[in-house]
Amino acid sequence: MNLQTQRLLIREWRDSDCSAFAAINADPEVRRYYYPSLLTQAESDAVIADCMDHLERHGFAFLALERRGDGALLGGAGLSVTHDVPGGPAIEIGWILGRPFWRQGYASEASHAWFDWAWANGMTEIVGYTSAINTPSRRAMEALGMHRNAADDFADITVPEGNPLRPHVLYRIANPNHA
Ligand SMILES: CC(C)(COP(=O)(O)OP(=O)(O)OC[C@H]1O[C@@H](n2cnc3c(N)ncnc32)[C@H](O)[C@@H]1OP(=O)(O)O)[C@@H](O)C(=O)NCCC(=O)NCCS
Repeated sequence: MNLQTQRLLIREWRDSDCSAFAAINADPEVRRYYYPSLLTQAESDAVIADCMDHLERHGFAFLALERRGDGALLGGAGLSVTHDVPGGPAIEIGWILGRPFWRQGYASEASHAWFDWAWANGMTEIVGYTSAINTPSRRAMEALGMHRNAADDFADITVPEGNPLRPHVLYRIANPNHA
C-alpha cells in the first residue's frame, strides 16, 4: 500500500531503507524517549520485517516515510495494532523521524493522511501513547486534535520501576463520521 500527501510518500519498506533507518535508530537524541534506547542494525532491520509482516496480516502498518521532492527517507509513520494499552487491543499511530527532519510538519502531514485512510476504512478510533515526559510526541498528538484523559494513564511494565520513561500517557481520536 502507499499514501501520498503534498510532500510525502508513505510506502512499504524496501531493503534499501535499512541503513538509513538504522542510522535514525542509532541516534541517541531520536531514541531519547524509547526503552530500550538505541537499536543495532539487526534490531532496526527486525522492526522493518515486523512492519511488513503486520502489513500482510492487517492491510496497514507502520511504513516508510519518503520525501517526494528528493526521495530522502525521513523515517517511519503509520498504524499498528497494539495490545499494550489499557482496555485491550487498539489501533495506534506512531512516528519516528530523523533529526534533520523534525519540526517541519512531516509527522502531522503523515498523520492526517493516515487518519483519512483509517476513517475511510471504517476504523472508529486511533490511539497514541508515549512516555509522559516525551513533550514533542505529546505536542504532536495534541496538535492533531487527539485528547488525553488522565484516567487512561498507565505504566509501561517493560520499563523498570523508577525509570522516568515508565509513566505513559494515552491520547485518542475518534472517527468524526461515526456518531
Ligand atoms: C515526535 C516527532 C515524530 C514529531 O515530528 P515532527 O515532524 O517534528 O512534528 P511536526 O513538525 O508535525 O509538529 C507537530 C506538532 O508538535 C509540535 N512539536 C514538534 N516537536 C516539538 C518539540 N520538540 N517541542 C515542542 N513541540 C514540538 C509542533 O510545534 C507541532 O505543533 P503545532 O502544530 O501546534 O505547532 C519527532 O520529534 C520525532 O521523530 N521524535 C523522535 C521519535 C519519537 O519520540 N517518536 C514518538 C515516539 S511515541
